[in-house]
Amino acid sequence: MAAKPIILILNGPNLNLLGTREPEIYGTTTLDAIQEECEEAAEELGLGIDFRQTNHEGEMVEWIQQAHDRNAGIIINAGAHTHTSIAILDALKASRIPVIEVHLSNIFRREEFRHTSYVSQAADGVICGLGPAGYVLALEAMANLPEDR
Ligand code: DQA
Repeated sequence: MAAKPIILILNGPNLNLLGTREPEIYGTTTLDAIQEECEEAAEELGLGIDFRQTNHEGEMVEWIQQAHDRNAGIIINAGAHTHTSIAILDALKASRIPVIEVHLSNIFRREEFRHTSYVSQAADGVICGLGPAGYVLALEAMANLPEDR
């Protein structure tokens, strides 16, 4: 049997605090619970996942660089790096695999500085404002991306 495609799911700074971090914005679901939901959804979709979180921009860049050889796609919630990091944008562009950007909150309904996303410039699609369900929707989209996109 062929090996399952593995989707790299990346989470940036402060997302380890989900559950207690600004619950009025991010809800009360923990990152561990989101990981579990993703594992269940991936199983049904015939995908594997590699689910990670880091508070460090350089570590995120290294993981993205490694994805080209290891992963069939990247789902990324870069947290605040979304709005600042040209390094992450460049790494995503260099990865040459599908990228879907996810945010729990609707970044366009929030402060002006959150309306700009560097990640979006490298993303095939963007899902924001739907809470943890956004990760599962991104996995479904990843499983159904046309080959010739
Ligand atoms: C976030 C939105 C970002 O603006 C913020 O810095 C985060 C979380 C989200 O998932 O809604 O850390 O990416």
